Amino acid sequence: MKGSHLAAALAGALSFLLTGLSFAPAQDMDTERAIERYRQMLKEDPWSNPALLDADRGETLWTTPRGPKNVSLEGCDLGKGPGVVEGAFAELPRYFADADKVMDLETRLLWCMESLQGFNRADLVKRPHPAGGQPVKELGAIATYIASKSNGMTFAAKLDQPKEREAVALGEALFARRSGPFDFACATCHAEEGRRIRLQALPQLSKPEEARKVVGEWPAYRVSSTHVMTMQHRLYDCFWQMRMPELELGSDVSVALIAYLVKTAQGGEIAAPGLKR
Ligand code: HEC
Repeated sequence: MKGSHLAAALAGALSFLLTGLSFAPAQDMDTERAIERYRQMLKEDPWSNPALLDADRGETLWTTPRGPKNVSLEGCDLGKGPGVVEGAFAELPRYFADADKVMDLETRLLWCMESLQGFNRADLVKRPHPAGGQPVKELGAIATYIASKSNGMTFAAKLDQPKEREAVALGEALFARRSGPFDFACATCHAEEGRRIRLQALPQLSKPEEARKVVGEWPAYRVSSTHVMTMQHRLYDCFWQMRMPELELGSDVSVALIAYLVKTAQGGEIAAPGLKR
């Protein structure tokens, strides 16, 4: 009883905080403009994005025989045939008959590392994301490489098979469902115009125009944590912000949320690896 009151009070305080901060004082606007200029300068020189180093590392990891079975990932089918990386990311998530599952890029890589190279799944999902200042893990570096091979293309995942449609519907429901001790849904932060936390504008991800702008930028180099963050990592952090149980890499929930985001962003351009504040 006490606990639930506390949770309600906390949720109340937090939603106040969110609303209270939606009105940015003038000083914040100046800072925001300065940050925007900084981002713009980095974007004007595409080679300045440090994520390209991770894409290179990922390419080497993709082609190098590794794991207990000592084979490369070139036999991995990302949906367009074994070893085909060009444009593969643009068509993910998709249903894979061999695994009988809908998978996003990282989940598919996890599957290939396990089934082809013989890596232990439990080891790979134990600490899948880097701490601040640490480089992205190997799976994330490979994902960065694969995504870079769809850079400039348009999101074209069909998501029209029954299992794919099921994943999108699950993702949509999860996006809207309030849960956890703060009683937050993704929608609490990401489904309203002009939401912000301090300086960070929160994109309205349920709106195709906004989803199209940002979803295709992941994996992205995140300046504030000085490493590449993948989409699975981004969602893992949002789950943490909601004080939800840890979001497992490759879980059905993670894939469903990504399927929903990609569906909403359909037709948007892929600009990966992106660059985030
Ligand atoms: C408590 C508020 C909050 C909740 C709830 C939340 N997020 Fe986030 N989300 C954030 C913040 C803060 C950022 C980072 C913004 C930044 O760094 O500029 C973010 C960033 C993102 C991004 C990247 C957006 C971009 O600009 O490229 C995605 C995608 C995302 N969240 C998805 C989700 C999903 C899916 C859920 C539900 C599982 C969720 N978020 C729940 C606060 C939240």
